[in-house]
Amino acid sequence: MMKSIIATSLIAEVALVAGFPDIARKVAEQRALEQRQGGFLPSLVPFPEFPGTPNHAVFNTFDPKSQLVSTSGDHAWQAPGPGDIRGPCAGLNAAANHGYLPRDGIATAQSVNTGLWEAYGLDKTATLFLQTATMFFDGDPISGRWSIGPHSDKTASLGPLSDVLGNQTGICAYGHLKTEADASITRGDWLDPNPEFNGNCASHPKFMQELFDLADKRANGFITPQVMAEHSYNRKQYSIQNNPNYFAPVYAGVAFTFGAHMFAFELLGNHSAEEPRGFLTKEVFMDFFSYKKDAAGNLKYTYGHERIPDNWYKRHALDAWTLTDIVVSTAQQCASYPSNCQVGGNTGTVNSFSGVDPGDLTGGLINSFENLSNPDKLGCFILQNLQAEIPSFLSNVLDPASLSLVNGLIPTVLMPALKGLDISGTCGNLPPGRTTPGYGGVYPGAKDMNVFEGPRAAY
Ligand code: HEM
Ligand SMILES: *[C@@H]1O[C@H](CO)[C@@H](O)[C@H](O)[C@H]1NC(C)=O
Ligand SMILES: *[C@@H]1O[C@H](CO)[C@@H](O)[C@H](O)[C@H]1NC(C)=O
Ligand SMILES: *[C@@H]1O[C@H](CO)[C@@H](O)[C@H](O)[C@H]1NC(C)=O
Repeated sequence: MMKSIIATSLIAEVALVAGFPDIARKVAEQRALEQRQGGFLPSLVPFPEFPGTPNHAVFNTFDPKSQLVSTSGDHAWQAPGPGDIRGPCAGLNAAANHGYLPRDGIATAQSVNTGLWEAYGLDKTATLFLQTATMFFDGDPISGRWSIGPHSDKTASLGPLSDVLGNQTGICAYGHLKTEADASITRGDWLDPNPEFNGNCASHPKFMQELFDLADKRANGFITPQVMAEHSYNRKQYSIQNNPNYFAPVYAGVAFTFGAHMFAFELLGNHSAEEPRGFLTKEVFMDFFSYKKDAAGNLKYTYGHERIPDNWYKRHALDAWTLTDIVVSTAQQCASYPSNCQVGGNTGTVNSFSGVDPGDLTGGLINSFENLSNPDKLGCFILQNLQAEIPSFLSNVLDPASLSLVNGLIPTVLMPALKGLDISGTCGNLPPGRTTPGYGGVYPGAKDMNVFEGPRAAY
């Protein structure tokens, strides 16, 4: 019954868009395409052309005036100066380089809520959720400040309360597994023993090239949601095959990593009268990701120089990307690429992926990771995990006065921001969830959840 809900909404969506009668026909078409292209597409239910809630597939309005994003005046591009922080997120880095977020790279609640709406049309349900979860995991829950890159002394700004989490990590480097995780679009796996690819703040041209090659193969060189979904699958397979410490926790690994894959199209795509639902060329993508090509055509990456291109049109305000869209598109990925929604990791050698038992992980909320192709279930699954993870994580706060202050924010600040994950109001009283250190014990890649600092040559 649960499965039929997503199947029905996929069919409704497909029917609305192109008049496909059913999934079976789409699957048959996919198989024919595979035969023509001589390659195996590892999805049974094709990932939708227009993911998220069905309204996006038929959105048909373009307003150049409100959708053009300013890149001049206060919003002129400027390279980060000495001490300014940039990190693993193309969207946040570009926003900071254009003054849509503070140029020093220290995010605040106010700047996230207004800046990401102005620059990208990311809806308030999503920014409230992301801001709140991130300040609890990676920053200062009392001031709401967090670093958009590795640790910064600037987030610990509250005098005697100062660094309430011990040593706030920011969203990359030692922030690993809290928000950031392995098998990213272009970032490396933090615990990959190969030092060439284990920076999780920096982008790696090898993975960018693989994405572009896939775009050439599948979509005439355009970056599409379907290309991003398949790239996500490829990146997970790559990590399983190359990183003995690969690990995917619930929130950072299943929900967040894929959320970022969708942001790459949904928030970075350009819009026009002909393409009101967005289109994304490699050139625009390279600006947003701080890439150029050298004379020989090789991709060259510069840390922190992400840019919103001139003459770029964001999503229409009536077509915002919401928290519900993040959950629904992730559920659609679970339907198309079920292995991507498995929590677990390698056990110390490559190709040793072992999944956590879903019933055990969730106290029976789901009994198969395939159940996550139902968006309602997926939302409850993430909600359950964060309700366990964040309060437990805060026990790392050593100072008792700070701890009681932060714990006081759980019912008043955290829970209201998580509510949007209960997308149909059916989560009810969830069984208690388990934390990453709790269920991740057998995985060498899970051991960093509570590591806040250390010497590392490269991020
Ligand atoms: C408060 C809001 C946000 C937070 C906390 C956040 C955080 C992050 C983090 C931690 C990563 C690394 C994820 C990973 O390991 O895979 C990431 C990646 C990414 N984010 Fe964001 N982000 C936010 C908003 C945005 C926005 C608004 C955009 C687009 C406009 C965006 C686009 C991306 C993209 C494309 C990546 C993938 C980068 C790569 O793997 O090369 N994000 N983000
Ligand atoms: C969960 O998945 C299992 C295995 O695919 C299936 O038998 C079961 O009916 C699903 N349960 C729900 C509630 O969707
Ligand atoms: C976005 O699309 C419009 C309409 O096709 C085009 O004029 C503009 O140059 C594009 N912007 C970028 C940055 O490619
Ligand atoms: C916090 O961690 C960072 C990154 O490892 C380190 O550079 C810094 O010295 C640490 N700060 C404190 C106060 O321990």
